Amino acid sequence: MLSDQLKGEPVHLLLNAIGILHDSQHGVGPEKRLEDLNAETFARVMHINAATPTLLIAALKGSLQGKHPTIIASLSARVGSIGDNGFGGWYSYRASKAAHNMLLKTASMELKRLNQQSIILCLHPGTTDTELSKPFQTRVPEDKLFTPDFVARSLIDVMAKRTPEDTGSFWDWAGKPIEW
Ligand SMILES: NC(=O)c1ccc[n+]([C@@H]2O[C@H](COP(=O)([O-])OP(=O)(O)OC[C@H]3O[C@@H](n4cnc5c(N)ncnc54)[C@H](OP(=O)(O)O)[C@@H]3O)[C@@H](O)[C@H]2O)c1
Repeated sequence: MLSDQLKGEPVHLLLNAIGILHDSQHGVGPEKRLEDLNAETFARVMHINAATPTLLIAALKGSLQGKHPTIIASLSARVGSIGDNGFGGWYSYRASKAAHNMLLKTASMELKRLNQQSIILCLHPGTTDTELSKPFQTRVPEDKLFTPDFVARSLIDVMAKRTPEDTGSFWDWAGKPIEW
């Protein structure tokens, strides 16, 4: 196990970039209407987008607690914001990112007690030119489709500006907070 290999050695940065929106092999795709919802694919999306990042934090808990500064950042998505949901659709993806955010917020409270220097962040990268966004890029204006390099640099800036008071918060690539 990862935690055995680390033997409690301090980890200063954990960045989760795992996530799924579509997977034709497993019949996963963003649902447009209620009839498209399927319990099996919903469970798969929830597992990958919400449970996996949290289990990763759980596996590394021994290396995150202590007295050292540590940032745990995980890529979420603005569509996971319940307050910002103005369009509907994408049931599983939206729900999984909302669950992701709740799990990370909850973990931030537990970890705060175990390491006062810990910072847990949910981050929205913006629409980024990757396999995940490929099928949906036609409707995105050119200046709103970011390169992975630009997004990586932007998110590093956002993380660098955070302090332990910010733990359990949700930010976009431009450094603006996002409502839950
Ligand atoms: N691209 C965007 O426009 C955009 C917008 C908002 C939020 N996001 C979020 O940003 C994150 C990164 O997305 P991306 O755009 O970089 O997509 P991507 O290119 O498709 O990368 C997704 C990553 O997740 C990994 N992954 C998927 N299923 C997995 C599983 N079952 N177990 C372990 N790893 C798994 C993939 O690993 P393999 O390569 O090994 O399959 C890949 O490294 C996601 O959480 C996504 O929701 C992206």
